[in-house]
Amino acid sequence: MAEHAARGEGDDELVTERFPADSLVRSGADDVERAAEAALRPRRMAEFVGQRVVREQLSLVLQAARGRGRAPDHVLLSGPPGLGKTTLAMIIAAELGASLRVTSGPAIQHAGDLAAVLSSLEEGEVLFLDEIHRIARPAEELLYVAMEDFRVDVMVGKGAGASAIPLALPPFTVVGATTRAGLLPAPLRDRFGFTGHLDFYATDELEQVLLRSAGLLGVPLAGAAAREIASRSRGTPRIANRLLRRVRDWAEVRGDGTLSLAAARAALEVYEVDQRGLDRLDRAVLEALCQRFGGGPVGLTTLAVAVGEEPETVETVAEPFLVREGLIGRTPRGRVALPATWEHLGLTVPRDPGTLFG
Ligand SMILES: Nc1ncnc2c1ncn2[C@@H]1O[C@H](COP(=O)(O)OP(=O)(O)OP(=O)(O)O)[C@@H](O)[C@H]1O
Ligand SMILES: [Mg+2]
Repeated sequence: MAEHAARGEGDDELVTERFPADSLVRSGADDVERAAEAALRPRRMAEFVGQRVVREQLSLVLQAARGRGRAPDHVLLSGPPGLGKTTLAMIIAAELGASLRVTSGPAIQHAGDLAAVLSSLEEGEVLFLDEIHRIARPAEELLYVAMEDFRVDVMVGKGAGASAIPLALPPFTVVGATTRAGLLPAPLRDRFGFTGHLDFYATDELEQVLLRSAGLLGVPLAGAAAREIASRSRGTPRIANRLLRRVRDWAEVRGDGTLSLAAARAALEVYEVDQRGLDRLDRAVLEALCQRFGGGPVGLTTLAVAVGEEPETVETVAEPFLVREGLIGRTPRGRVALPATWEHLGLTVPRDPGTLFG
């Protein structure tokens, strides 16, 4: 027991020294946050900010289907976490005046799980399949047939006496969502009549998201504060709404309740989210790269040791955004700092950063 307790304490210490994986600027969300998000979700297409191209294309698909009085083609929504896939799936059902059935790839481990959902569908319903790339293989086959022929084979009996009874399904629409469109097998991808790819949002679009959210939450958000929060939100509405909630906390506890530019800056300073939306881990990686390894190239493992993290954490948690922002380059010889990194850290760019790529 004593040994256990001692080990437990040691682990705790280790954990507090490490960077929180659930920092304020990560794009994923846990169940608690997803529940809080529900209140801020746009309900109709007209409220959905940004994504002009996808919005216009999808509106046409839906309007045409409504005009014909038929269920529209199946829709696939792809894109990084927090950009509005679930929100759009709900909007699709609302715009069609249809009810929405929700399930997800991980929830469908056997063909039978999917058969049960499919055989209970009613005419015109929208079936939302979240994380569709994680659906089990045997269920995938069943889904092909259901999407194309509106039919599902229900297995009756067991063992040698088992037989498949074909069951006709009423017309319905699958809306699939995935963060990893590349993992979808081609035959599944082909069964979607429309694919919308969601991209990161521009700062002025996130400003609109924030002003709308502030209105719903009933908090006074100044225009300049909205701009400041938007520019630190990594192009992601989920992060924008999350930062807004933290700025509101600061304004209520330390300020006068107004979300002014000064309040936004002070709050984000407390939460260690800098001007570009980098957090402590991101900055630690950049600082190690520039100050300890002269800008690189340095191997991932060495870099990870320098910031006290697992290589996998650095690679999957911190790097994607740093690469996207043009702060880190990946070369065959390792990671390198790009000129923007030195500037961001307030350091002098080495005279010839080009040689670092050699
Ligand atoms: N275009 C938008 N306009 C306004 N708010 C948005 C928009 N897109 C997303 N949001 C808000 O961002 C939050 C996250 O959106 P959503 O849950 O739809 O993301 P997602 O793409 O499904 O993410 P995940 O891949 O993690 O499931 C929601 O609270 C939603 O209200
Ligand atoms: Mg979602």
